[in-house]
Amino acid sequence: MNQTLAIIKPDATAGGKAGLILAQLESAGFTLRAARMLTMTRAQAGSFYAVHRERPFYDSLVAFMTSGPCIPMVLEGSAAVPRLREVIGATDPAEAAEGTVRRLHAESKERNAIHGSDSDENARREIAFFFSGAERLG
Ligand code: RTP
Ligand code: MG
Repeated sequence: MNQTLAIIKPDATAGGKAGLILAQLESAGFTLRAARMLTMTRAQAGSFYAVHRERPFYDSLVAFMTSGPCIPMVLEGSAAVPRLREVIGATDPAEAAEGTVRRLHAESKERNAIHGSDSDENARREIAFFFSGAERLG
């Protein structure tokens, strides 16, 4: 699988960091294949993060992800899923390695600047969630 889904989250988009983050992803070797900008509805964010429905942070996460525009994008590169997770860093920026996107740009464990798919199966599902076949193959 050479594609994965990233989302520049509402904190980073509102904070004027979208360009810096995309430049970092491109510098890390990813090619941008598709992108869009939207403010997710509660239904969309709730469905996207449905795997976390039972977690204590779920309601807060959905509120955060619907708080403003985000930028889902399809990134292409070899071993895209694990490579993006490496470039993003740990969920909590305090634990993220030096030089990772979250270490550089995240505000907190929740407002952590970027999402990256965590498996090939989820990457396929998440890419299809935001992008049509025509957009992905264009
Ligand atoms: P993501 O799915 O967004 O790429 O992040 P992740 O795999 O590193 O972390 P995950 O466990 O999937 O959690 C999804 C998002 O929920 C928020 N979160 N808040 N307050 C908390 O303890 C907490 N834990 C997770 C973060 O926005 C996290 O990225
Ligand atoms: Mg996750």
